[in-house]
Amino acid sequence: MDSTLMLIKPDAMQKGALGEILSAVQKAGFTVRNLKILRLRAAEAKEFYSEHRERPFFSDLVEFMTSGEIAAIALERNDAVATLRKLIGATDSRLADPGSIRARFGTDNQRNAVHASDSTNSARRELAFFFSTRELIPLPD
Ligand code: CMP
Repeated sequence: MDSTLMLIKPDAMQKGALGEILSAVQKAGFTVRNLKILRLRAAEAKEFYSEHRERPFFSDLVEFMTSGEIAAIALERNDAVATLRKLIGATDSRLADPGSIRARFGTDNQRNAVHASDSTNSARRELAFFFSTRELIPLPD
């Protein structure tokens, strides 16, 4: 089993898509280990997306990610990172596979409904960004 982080972004939260997205990930075999709803401050969004700080879309991304509530969700499954990336689809919602979460709930390459960690190292960092060790205690077998 390994873990990954998914964010439901402000566009999808505003559409009321939290329940449908959770249902899609649970149907794909993920266990929801923890979930919190919060609104990021600009400094937090900048830190979370710091690898993109030189990109031309960075300030728009920070503005978008702080425009409303998000859900941060800790998910567990075998091969969690790759499985979730496939389930959400390509970054640009217009190009995402039909039926993928971004195709269903996103709009374009910024308003793309969800984020998912892109490697196990990113997952470790991103889970620690939103959750304490105590909030991620492994469940008993
Ligand atoms: P995410 O997977 O959360 O990782 C970085 C985010 O930056 C991405 O989803 C999009 O929301 C946004 N993004 C990536 N590429 C672009 C782009 N070309 N223009 C605008 N936003 C982008």
